Amino acid sequence: MNVVLLGSGTGSNAETILRAEKNGDLGDASIKAVFSDNENAGIMDHASHYGKPARFLSAGPFKTKLDGESETAWIKEIEFYEPQLVVLAGFMRVLKPPFLQAFQKRIINLHPSLLPSFPGLNGIRQAFDYGVKVTGCTVHWVNEIVDGGAVIDQAAVRVQNDDNLQALEAKVHEAEHRLLPEVVRRLSIGEIPFPR
Ligand code: GAR
Repeated sequence: MNVVLLGSGTGSNAETILRAEKNGDLGDASIKAVFSDNENAGIMDHASHYGKPARFLSAGPFKTKLDGESETAWIKEIEFYEPQLVVLAGFMRVLKPPFLQAFQKRIINLHPSLLPSFPGLNGIRQAFDYGVKVTGCTVHWVNEIVDGGAVIDQAAVRVQNDDNLQALEAKVHEAEHRLLPEVVRRLSIGEIPFPR
């Protein structure tokens, strides 16, 4: 299963996927390339460290989405790697219908809350500020509704009374680092079905 990873930041989740592949723990998944809208993102360093093509692509003038022209370029560049799966690992832009159609039913996203609670930005902070006692992370299929596609799997994290935001962030990230590579592995061996 050819996989490409898209991310905008630190890339700790991409790193866990790349490490899982190196350790033989990623089933039949093969990471072909890593794409980022941020030239200096940590995710680019992780890609290079694991010997994968690290591709920066400009997103255009908007902060929260790709502009039309960039989107066409992104589609073309990603299609080159013939991915059966596109993984959004901390990719912070909303993808529009042309992109979604190009990789229909093949895009998954990682979100740092138990959806449908706390969609959008700062999922961990939203949960912390609300005062929930259980939060976690979700991997879901991507559709036109932001953080609204079908849930694939989730991991729960208990919020202790003495947890501050940083402690909760660390716990949610730890859960993400277990969940996302495992979902990729299970998809690659057919243990989780792709949508029809
Ligand atoms: C992760 O916590 C991921 O759930 C979140 O960004 C972080 C990326 O961390 N994604 C979103 O909030 C998407 N709406 P990383 O760059 O270290 O993998």
